[in-house]
Parts: sequence; structure tokens; C-alpha cells
Amino acid sequence: MDSFELNKIAGAVLGAGLLIMVINEIGNILVHPVTDVSVLGIETESADTAAATAAPAEEAIPLPTLLAAGDAAKGAKVARKCTACHTFDQGGANKVGPNLWAVLGRTKAAVDGFGYSAAMADHGGDWGYQEMFDFLTKPKDYLPGTKMAFAGLRKPADVADIIAYMRENHDAAPPLPTE
Ligand code: HEC
Repeated sequence: MDSFELNKIAGAVLGAGLLIMVINEIGNILVHPVTDVSVLGIETESADTAAATAAPAEEAIPLPTLLAAGDAAKGAKVARKCTACHTFDQGGANKVGPNLWAVLGRTKAAVDGFGYSAAMADHGGDWGYQEMFDFLTKPKDYLPGTKMAFAGLRKPADVADIIAYMRENHDAAPPLPTE
């Protein structure tokens, strides 16, 4: 077999390969628009409906509205996620975390004898409702470096419920925000 013969064979193989690719492409072009009915002008509606039902969940409910709906009894149940580390009652012990009696409205990191992280001790300010809400939603985002090993409460309603529970575990909770 001379090199001319070899070239012809190689050419034939290449040609066959190319032909397969071309057929594939044509197949794709022909098949795909047909499966995607929107291309044919047929309204499926499903995409629009999904967007419409997803939209309200995306909208942030204002904090006063959320807090006003807080339920202390439900909050007591949510608090089970905290009680491995915290007590909520007056005179309760510090555990892994500090006692949380009357923590709303109080200066941050103010429980005597509890060893706070530098991040918490240096953060400053009081536990206002917004601060508490943000902290409990994502402790590590609100306070990078905190030693509270808790991922946060994903549902805003759970945070509102536990804040209602914290208001009950208080002698003089600050009034709820109105706006
Ligand atoms: C794994 C243990 C752990 C869990 C679970 C936990 N915490 Fe904490 N918490 C801590 C620690 C530790 C600190 C101190 C953080 C620091 O110093 O950075 C803290 C601090 C706090 C503070 C600040 C207190 C102050 O005196 O300034 C609040 C408020 C708080 N936690 C609320 C909660 C609530 C509410 C939950 C449940 C939803 C919860 N924590 C779950 C360990 C925990």
C-alpha cells in the first residue's frame, strides 16, 4: 500500500467522522426546537405560574409585621434548639452559652462571668430587635468570629417566635418596633 492509498483511507475515515457530526448537528437542530414547544409559539404557562407563586416568598416581610406575629408558645419549642447551650429563666446558669434572661435591649456580652469571644465582647451596642433578628438568622454573618456554634434559624417566623419567647423571659422587654 503506498502513501496515496493510505491518504485515501484516512480521508475516508475522516469524511465518515465529519458526516456523522453533521448528521448529529442536523438531528439536534431538528429535534430540539420541537421538544421546546415555546419555540413553536405554544404558551405552556408553567414557567409563568412558577414565577408567580415564588414571588411572595422572595418579598421581605417588614420586621415589625414579623415580630407582631411572633408566638411565644411556638418560640418555646424553637428554643429547644438553644437549650443545649442556653438557659432562658431568671437566675439560670451559664452553659456553653450565657444565660439569656432579659437579654433583649441589654448591652451585648453583658453576663458577668461568662467568657465571650473577642468578636462578641468588642461588638458593642445593645440587643435591639433588628440586631437580635439578624444575629439569630445567621450568627456568623452578623458577628464574624462569634463562638456561638449555631447555623441560625432559616425561617423568619421561627426567629419571630423565639423573640416573642425571649420577651416573656424578661422583666421589662423593650416595646416592639412599630415601623
Ligand atoms: C452550640 C451552642 C449554642 C447554641 C445551640 C446556641 N447558642 Fe447562643 N451562644 C452560644 C455561645 C457560645 C455564645 C457566646 C458567643 C460569643 O461570645 O461569641 C452565645 C451567645 C448568644 C447570645 C448573646 C448573649 C449576650 O449576652 O450578649 C444570644 C442572644 C444567643 N446566643 C441566643 C441564642 C438562641 C436564641 C439560640 C437558639 C435559637 C442559640 N443562641 C443557640 C452558644 C450557643
